[in-house]
Amino acid sequence: MDTEAQKRAAGEAAIEFVQDNMIVGVGTGSTVRHFIAALGKIRQRIDGAVSSSEQSSALLRAAGIQVLDPNAVGEIPLYVDGADECDPRRCLIKGGGAALTREKILAAVAKKFVCIVDAHKCVEVLGKFPLPIEVIPMARSHVAREIQHRGGTPVWRQGCTTDNGNWILDVHGLHIGDPLQLESDWNQITGVVTVGLFARRPADVVLVGDGRRF
Ligand code: 5RP
Repeated sequence: MDTEAQKRAAGEAAIEFVQDNMIVGVGTGSTVRHFIAALGKIRQRIDGAVSSSEQSSALLRAAGIQVLDPNAVGEIPLYVDGADECDPRRCLIKGGGAALTREKILAAVAKKFVCIVDAHKCVEVLGKFPLPIEVIPMARSHVAREIQHRGGTPVWRQGCTTDNGNWILDVHGLHIGDPLQLESDWNQITGVVTVGLFARRPADVVLVGDGRRF
């Protein structure tokens, strides 16, 4: 199966976790697009969605699904999102689409986090995919220096402003043996909004487009 077919298969497989009258948390990206398309077909069964990006909000509304404010909803039963890399413990690198902060908020308020990926995203050790970090613009060079001190090579993602008005540094050259430690440490750097490492709150279930799940 090619990559696009795997993205579709994973996105459609996540529908089995949607129950009647749920408010569904929806992530961002090309795999999630397939989930949104499938969710649109059963929109009468759900009470609405909360969204991790302006892009997904637009897709949800176009599919006839009401987009709700997370502050008005509280805890959500289900969050479905993609990832850039996934390790065997279901720790993730996310943020390739620059939506990492809102994605981390929805993962934090979700009872169940279902991650949908194609097989290329599954790795033994995280870090080949450059780790995205959302930063406050005036702290960009400070954060970059701090990352260099910690052995990473940060690259400013040109032309990218997040939905929160911030910038992204993509950190190359990492081999993340202890994702929990790195997430906790780097989140403490002043000016960091979010590190795109999901280890404190990993996925609960990973659906791979080749049929595997773990
Ligand atoms: C966006 C993300 C996405 O989940 C990640 O980039 C995967 O995207 P795709 O499904 O397009 O491969 O973290 O910020």
